[in-house]
Amino acid sequence: MLIRTNDRFLPAVFKDQACSQLKQARQRLQDIQNKTCKGAEWTGWYDWPESEGFKQVQTVKKTIEDIDVSYDIVVVLGIGGSYAGTRAVSEALTHAHSSLLTSAKKTGSKIPIVYAGQNLCEDSLLDLLDVLADKRPLLNVISKSGDTTETQVAFRVLKKFLCEKYGETEAAKRILVTTDPKKGSLRKLCEEKNYLSFPVPQNIGGRYSVLSYVGLLPLGLAGFDIEAMMEGSQALFSSLKLPSEEASLEELAANPVLYTACVRKVAWDLGKRIDVLAYSKPKLAFFVEWWKQLFGESEGKENKGLFPAGMLYSTDLHSLGQYVQEGYPSLVETFLRVEHPISDLSYGLERRLKIPEEGFLISQDAQGPKLDSRYISDLDTAVTRAAQKAHSDRGVPVFEIVIRQIDEFHLGALFSFFQSLCAVSAGLLDVNPFDQPGVEAYKRNLRSLLETKEVGNEF
Ligand code: PA5
Repeated sequence: MLIRTNDRFLPAVFKDQACSQLKQARQRLQDIQNKTCKGAEWTGWYDWPESEGFKQVQTVKKTIEDIDVSYDIVVVLGIGGSYAGTRAVSEALTHAHSSLLTSAKKTGSKIPIVYAGQNLCEDSLLDLLDVLADKRPLLNVISKSGDTTETQVAFRVLKKFLCEKYGETEAAKRILVTTDPKKGSLRKLCEEKNYLSFPVPQNIGGRYSVLSYVGLLPLGLAGFDIEAMMEGSQALFSSLKLPSEEASLEELAANPVLYTACVRKVAWDLGKRIDVLAYSKPKLAFFVEWWKQLFGESEGKENKGLFPAGMLYSTDLHSLGQYVQEGYPSLVETFLRVEHPISDLSYGLERRLKIPEEGFLISQDAQGPKLDSRYISDLDTAVTRAAQKAHSDRGVPVFEIVIRQIDEFHLGALFSFFQSLCAVSAGLLDVNPFDQPGVEAYKRNLRSLLETKEVGNEF
């Protein structure tokens, strides 16, 4: 199974009630498939590989072949759904210290991606300009609406930098734009300046768009296998078989999207208010950031929704673990577990790391447990199991989502898994998973502040 669940530490009441949610959840999934759900006009991401995804992969590949400037760094300008998925993939599949490796030790031929437009931090932009001074950058500015302040500001700074470095004509060749096909100020600018541009699909919202040009273009430019991502997504959609309305727990579990959605709804009904996604591979930190945006922005409306929180173990077991174990009991804890111990299988078995014999002991008792000769990742699995048991003994509902390994194929599958899950879960709460009316409030305030006041430190 591409993605499976593990309910070993889930309380019996959750398992019983999950089956009674099945009929509703099944209907919500069908509503998405048949485009009859709330926000149906935004469901283009479902079965996307078949409809447009593979075609977009081919267009991106062709574009990359035809680019007539040389580049050694890709700069992604965007915020929220316009950047988070790209960063999730690139951080998950890049050596943790790639910039510090000597070139002899670098693996693969990936081009680094750097990011701007996620904040209005002068320091960050100045640091980025320092890096770009000695590089040959290619810029991909991504904004579906084409009017996001943070992205606009970063774009202005980097466009000026490119024009000064290369002159207007070459700078224009180094700017690729991903935005609405028809409207918005970025689309207008694109036409005026003749930038190469890519449409954000009109039937897909920002946080559901990583497998469109929004993620495919920058990831393709950096050398990631975007075709494998699309294949992973396709495999996930093909694997989602609808169980019958009267299905047993075992039959329900054969559809991990429906089972997880039912468990989340039971958690909500039983008064849980926080969904912790626990993981132990630091390279997944940005994947979890992507997940937080997906669930927070899709479900958090009409005074409903589990608050999505990420916890990186072991480190968070030594901090927030105290709260999970003894704090206010409002959490449901979902572990995202990767079966294969190392990310890049091409490293081979010789890359595995065993714990050496000498060092300090896990317990002062000489007869106590021994660490020697165990693989570190086996110990990590033991830590996961120990935490799951401790938390479930305390009454925390613990659930697990398991994936074989981390590569483009499985990340493509995970994106589509969580998007489907999120849309079904939001459907069970009876909210529209695809809009974000609450995000507009700060934008309106910002506009009126900028219109009426001099911006400065007095704010
Ligand atoms: O999911 C969403 O729609 C949002 O998070 C957007 O992606 C985010 O606000 C960025 O918007 P835009 O692409 O219009 O700049």
